[in-house]
Amino acid sequence: MTPDGNRREAAGHPACSFQFSDLATDIIKMLDKLFILGTGVLAEECFALASHAGIHVAAFIENMDRAKSGTRRCDRPILWVDDMPQRAKCICALSTSTRSRFIDQVSDRAEFVNLVHPSSIVLPGSTLGRGAIISAGVIVASNTAIGDFVFVNRAARLGHHTQIGKFATIQPGANIAGLINIGESTLVGMGSIIIERLTIGRESIIAAGAVVICDVPDNVMVAGNPAVVKKTGIVPR
Ligand SMILES: CC(C)(COP(=O)(O)OP(=O)(O)OC[C@H]1O[C@@H](n2cnc3c(N)ncnc32)[C@H](O)[C@@H]1OP(=O)(O)O)[C@@H](O)C(=O)NCCC(=O)NCCS
Repeated sequence: MTPDGNRREAAGHPACSFQFSDLATDIIKMLDKLFILGTGVLAEECFALASHAGIHVAAFIENMDRAKSGTRRCDRPILWVDDMPQRAKCICALSTSTRSRFIDQVSDRAEFVNLVHPSSIVLPGSTLGRGAIISAGVIVASNTAIGDFVFVNRAARLGHHTQIGKFATIQPGANIAGLINIGESTLVGMGSIIIERLTIGRESIIAAGAVVICDVPDNVMVAGNPAVVKKTGIVPR
């Protein structure tokens, strides 16, 4: 799962069966397995990615709706955040704003690992930050730095010598050229194209299908071909 030596620890473990009965006993058994922060559809997608990669998921973690704890998703238990074990190996499967809140909440207890689907390619010289997730069919060229807690969705392509700021989300099929700098918590919509040597600000949104040919400021939404600013004052969603 980690053919390139530059990746942080990957959460790969042989599949095995897991019976959830008594919390205290089972938490010990869970510690070498993956915990997914979040219980929504993105969490289910990450569960599928992990399972397909042969990584055993121990549990989902909920921090908003107490009623969900004690129930199950994808045949795994949902634990309340306070019951998550110390040093649990985690990924976070939530949208940008809820992602950063949840990560702050558990940062003293969680060990954030990378989930990289084996169908993706990360060329030598590129690095992944803590908790970064690379979905299926992604291509990352060489010497690219992907920040902490970035989510790169299916079939996105990242060029060489590109930097992706922490908490950014790169949606399916986005095509980001080389020598690009993308700011923190920015969302790059599906199917968008960003030509080389541009700076994309922080907390901005590149709309689906946009063709970006010039720098994008912080906190704006751009759309169209060529992309133009459609909205200002954008905050992460
Ligand atoms: C950009 C986006 C987030 C919408 O943002 P919003 O702030 O709600 O924008 P609005 O819908 O209010 O639209 C504002 C303007 O942008 C335009 N616009 C929005 N999305 C657009 C797009 N993808 N392409 C072209 N124009 C777009 C609207 O037509 C509107 O134009 P107008 O002011 O001239 O009428 C959404 O359209 C989008 O592209 N999301 C990304 C989806 C994605 O990647 N999903 C992945 C799922 S896995």
